[in-house]
Amino acid sequence: MFSVRRAAVNFTQKRAFSASAANPYKVAVLGASGGIGQPLSLLLKLSPKVTELALYDVRGAPGVAADISHVNTHSVVKGYTPAPENLAEAVKDAEIVLIPAGVPRKPGMSRDDLFNTNASIVRDLADATAKANPNAKLLIIANPVNSTVPICAEVYKRRNVYNPKTLFGVTTLDVVRASRFISELKNTNPANEKVTVVGGHSGVTIVPLLSQSNHPEISGEQRDALVHRIQFGGDEVVKAKDGAGSATLSMALAGYRMAESLLRAKAGEEGVIEPTFVDSPLFKDQGVDFFASNVELGPEGVKKIHGVGDINAYEKELIEACLKDLKKNIEKGVEFVKSNP
Ligand code: NAI
Repeated sequence: MFSVRRAAVNFTQKRAFSASAANPYKVAVLGASGGIGQPLSLLLKLSPKVTELALYDVRGAPGVAADISHVNTHSVVKGYTPAPENLAEAVKDAEIVLIPAGVPRKPGMSRDDLFNTNASIVRDLADATAKANPNAKLLIIANPVNSTVPICAEVYKRRNVYNPKTLFGVTTLDVVRASRFISELKNTNPANEKVTVVGGHSGVTIVPLLSQSNHPEISGEQRDALVHRIQFGGDEVVKAKDGAGSATLSMALAGYRMAESLLRAKAGEEGVIEPTFVDSPLFKDQGVDFFASNVELGPEGVKKIHGVGDINAYEKELIEACLKDLKKNIEKGVEFVKSNP
């Protein structure tokens, strides 16, 4: 009788241990007190894959961490006040570091208008990460993504730790919007609507490939309006918030989805595909070193970069316009690090 009971206890202990140790992932959010950072951190707290959540910001991270730490899920939450050693501690050993730190748009601003403020914020946070934990997957949310991602690449190159497989510009919100907008038009369930969106993350660099969606028949003015809405959907939010910022809640969901997909791939799940802005061979021959397309994720980060596939003449024109802007945005980021090391 005694030995049976002991065996049962041991079995329970083993199961409990393996359940918590199966996915021991630390995730760090830099800019965690902001409009995106707070709901993003809350969603990450709900993930069974996350065991430690490190929240860093120049203001208020301990408060956000204390609040979120009361949510009754397994992970431990720590908040960090601004100091170089705290930042290093926050990112150390993290599997994923997300950067939503930086200022958002106000009505009338383009994402590029944020460059002057956000470029140096992202450069410094990326540099600290490159120093303390160069192997972390770095997910850049701060705009202009088309320039902030090349900035990170340059910073990592400068420290001789650049690995293109671990650097991601988060463009997930564009596909989230595209699937919702097309479902509104067609009166369908957005969960069943997958729209491939390629290019970059700003205005005409956002290229939805409707010909590959469930509704390739959308044409003429309806197509033009839908493409425009997907490209400039962020403006709807900026306008509605009337000076109080840009998308935060839908963005938190999109950022969470991207992080969770990377953790699923890290845990060994096959066939995890997300659109993301990465160091990509697709248009390097035209001088465009970064491009968003569907990317299969693996334990090391980028596993396979998918091409844009079959596209029609209209979409070819969209891509041409995209590449022109994207090239300039990327060069601006690279140039920034060269002249502001
Ligand atoms: P916010 O102003 O509400 O939050 C930004 C946070 O960053 C603040 O808490 C601030 O204290 C913090 N911060 C500033 N400098 C910092 C530093 N050096 N270190 C650590 N934290 C720092 O802005 P919000 O709405 O959260 O937006 C953040 C960024 O995300 C903006 O650049 C915005 O344009 C971008 N964004 C990106 C999207 C995408 O699809 N990739 C979509 C929507 C917004």
